[in-house]
Amino acid sequence: MSIHKILFVTSEAHPLIKTGGLADVSGSLPAALKTLRRDIRILMPAYKSARARIGRHTRKAQLKAPGFPDDIAVLEGHLPGTRIPVWLVDSPRHFDRDGGPYADSQGRDWPDNAERFTVFNRIAELLALNQAGLDWQPDIVHCNDWQSGLTPALLARSTPRPATVFTIHNLAYQGLFNWETFQGLHLPGDLWSMHAMEFYGQFSFIKGGIAFADMLNTVSPQYAREICTPEFGCGLENLLSQRADRLAGILNGADYSQWNPARDPHLAANYNPFTTEKKKINKRQLQKLYNLPIDDGVPLIGLVGRLVEQKGFDLLLAILPQLFQRRVQVVVLGSGDKSLEHRLEMAVREYPDKLGAHIGYNEALAHQVEGGADMFLMPSRYEPCGLNQIYSLRYGTLPIVRRTGGLANTVVDATEENLARGTATGIVFDEALPGALLHGIDRALALYSQPKPWKKVVFNAMQQDFSWRRSARQYLDLYRKAQAVR
Ligand code: ADP
Ligand code: GLC
Repeated sequence: MSIHKILFVTSEAHPLIKTGGLADVSGSLPAALKTLRRDIRILMPAYKSARARIGRHTRKAQLKAPGFPDDIAVLEGHLPGTRIPVWLVDSPRHFDRDGGPYADSQGRDWPDNAERFTVFNRIAELLALNQAGLDWQPDIVHCNDWQSGLTPALLARSTPRPATVFTIHNLAYQGLFNWETFQGLHLPGDLWSMHAMEFYGQFSFIKGGIAFADMLNTVSPQYAREICTPEFGCGLENLLSQRADRLAGILNGADYSQWNPARDPHLAANYNPFTTEKKKINKRQLQKLYNLPIDDGVPLIGLVGRLVEQKGFDLLLAILPQLFQRRVQVVVLGSGDKSLEHRLEMAVREYPDKLGAHIGYNEALAHQVEGGADMFLMPSRYEPCGLNQIYSLRYGTLPIVRRTGGLANTVVDATEENLARGTATGIVFDEALPGALLHGIDRALALYSQPKPWKKVVFNAMQQDFSWRRSARQYLDLYRKAQAVR
């Protein structure tokens, strides 16, 4: 059996729409698979912003989702700057609105999310079975996160059918809806069963992917082990353990065409491992942008990310009084939890010469933080893979990370031994506790104060290669296994 045609089902893809790392992965893994000569198509909802960015497109099909009156079109365009076809599921009532893909501009989940993503998955099902009139039969349907978790469950009911793969990017977001909502989705009634998608009295989209996909994976080997334990399994650890023989861990790659300090158009100065002294031009620019004192010598720590419990921003807030007794500056870019945003803004008022914060989403600034900071902090409570630490390595912005998930798989701690061996690439600390974080930062500051070993670690970090090639091959292996066990 060969794997040639792949339908990649996702709810976000950079540069069409992005809330986090899933968009980075969906915008770059398909390209890596295409380089391996596969015919891959991305399927996504036709959000207003995605439609606007896709450029010229054609209407390929007109169909209905079972149970819903809407006329739904499949629009075909391309991922900007590539030759990868994108199919957008155009159901205007569900997707043609301002705001984010899952929530309105105030951060409130769309009240009709269950219906929106049911319609999306129903169309995925029709395309997967070549019943949408497009004359294209995929060999593999690759679904991602809860928003496409229903597709493997629906496909499991058909024969013949393509093999299915489900990737867990984040187990904590499960797509849970109550019984009344489920009744309005016009889905087969037997999906509401503990052996199917019912989960402690709710309908769980993610469980559809986990229970029914032929093969499963998550985005790092470490997180694949962690999610089989109660601490990280979010209640799904038993099901995941039962399916452990179907569960792989494949590390995300980085798209170095987007994240490369030597060519990054957002930076004031481009640099490579041999010209890192130019980094200070970016540092000054960053200090200016954040209204901090311009100072080449003060260590500057950057953070970029969704302001949510996962990312451990509260741990940073807890140590600020002690941290700012040291000579150090911190810049933050993020948005999310309103109370975290508020606490951050208050802290900036308290430490205006030490702390800068930009609340919001800003792609250019994310690159400038990578290019200008000396260190990059990720004190995550859990981290399925994490991309920013991988970008930080390439930017010579030494990551300070907690030993969890993909962070543990990508950063090599600067212990004396690893320094002596020349393998160190950053600082790794163990506990999700303020004291442990402060100790980690202190270790980073101590290393920074010794220019020679610091530069060596920076050089080594910049040589690390997390490009997609290897991971894309691992996905092909996973696809083969999915076909074999189907
Ligand atoms: P997650 O997917 O959990 O959010 P990742 O580290 O995998 O975490 O990916 C986050 C991606 O989103 C990175 O590309 C990061 O630069 C980007 N990002 C997160 N928050 C912001 C923001 N406020 N502005 C710009 N980019 C952001
Ligand atoms: C998720 C995870 C993050 C991962 C990303 C892409 O949002 O939180 O760790 O890198 O998905 O797989």
